[in-house]
Amino acid sequence: DMGGHDTYMHKEISEQPDAVDRVLRGRIDDRFSTVHLGGLNLDPREARTIRRIKILGCGTSYHAGLIGASLIEGMARIPADAEPASEFRYRNPVVDPDTLYIAVSQSGETYDVLAAVQELKRKGARVLGVVNVVGSAIAREADGGVYVHAGPEVCVVSTKCFTNTVVAFALLALHLGRIRDLSVTDGKRIIEGLRKLPAQIEEILKSEDEIKQIAAEYAGAQSMMFIGRVRGYPVALEASLKLKEISYIHAEAYPASELKHGPLALIEPALPTVAIVPDDDLLEKNRAALEEIKARSGRILAVAHQPQAKADHTIVVPKNEDELDPILMGIPLQLFAYHTALAMGRDIDKPRNLAKSVTVE
Ligand code: F6R
Repeated sequence: DMGGHDTYMHKEISEQPDAVDRVLRGRIDDRFSTVHLGGLNLDPREARTIRRIKILGCGTSYHAGLIGASLIEGMARIPADAEPASEFRYRNPVVDPDTLYIAVSQSGETYDVLAAVQELKRKGARVLGVVNVVGSAIAREADGGVYVHAGPEVCVVSTKCFTNTVVAFALLALHLGRIRDLSVTDGKRIIEGLRKLPAQIEEILKSEDEIKQIAAEYAGAQSMMFIGRVRGYPVALEASLKLKEISYIHAEAYPASELKHGPLALIEPALPTVAIVPDDDLLEKNRAALEEIKARSGRILAVAHQPQAKADHTIVVPKNEDELDPILMGIPLQLFAYHTALAMGRDIDKPRNLAKSVTVE
């Protein structure tokens, strides 16, 4: 049942305010400015001994893991990174007892992730799951974890589950941070930011008509570049994946600072750039990248907190706490991919060559 929407993708994009509300519900503890995660199965003493966090996932879940790693590193000050689960499996990784492993999956059935979890457990590692489907294989195999509560996701490409997974990571980061060195003040600040998310997502969804008009101008492109810096880079990766999957436009994502190390050679009027430009301490650096692109006559669509003079179009999103901005900046680009693909007559819910759940190697 699509509930009045033409596609599941549109339905699922629209459900995000409620979905985010669900992942937050019952978990915030205002008394201690932290969150409770019932199924985590990690006591505070153990949480203090973690030396490193390694996050594993595939596709969109890997991208959510990249943002998760930066949230954990930022709030809990635990070195953290994310890696595609298949790469991890095949490189005979050093499995370290002081590392906490986190497997991320919407379906909970993705074979590469499940196999990585099983291998880690065989070697005695502690593995948590950040999973959407309750009782799925990865959820059962993990020692504990955080359910994402996005609700059923039917469209082959992931949207609401990506957003909810990142919010789940923000909760985990806050929880670990408040056990370690994150101050009460910062805890409160993040909680206030989290509470604002559903209404801010609602506000972004209201700009759908404007995004649709912008998408119509890019729909014929052969290829598109996506750039972001630090927190914005995984947002660029995910937005470029979404565009590729449903529109079949070739797209690639680069860290903004890497442009000058090669890809700037590609910039010309026929290769538009989508730039993630949050209003944070890197704003001036990001603006400099826009200038470099404009100097080569590249067209620019910025996703930013204020209109960007160098951009041909800016989608303005509401500002949250710096740490939580990536959650909001991805959402207009889901709609951008959607309307670009729609303008090109694509079968949005059933993109060619793709399956919802990849249960083979
Ligand atoms: C992208 C997409 C895929 C999945 C990937 C992992 O829109 O849907 O990239 O994210 O196959 O799937 P899960 O999260 O079920 O493990």
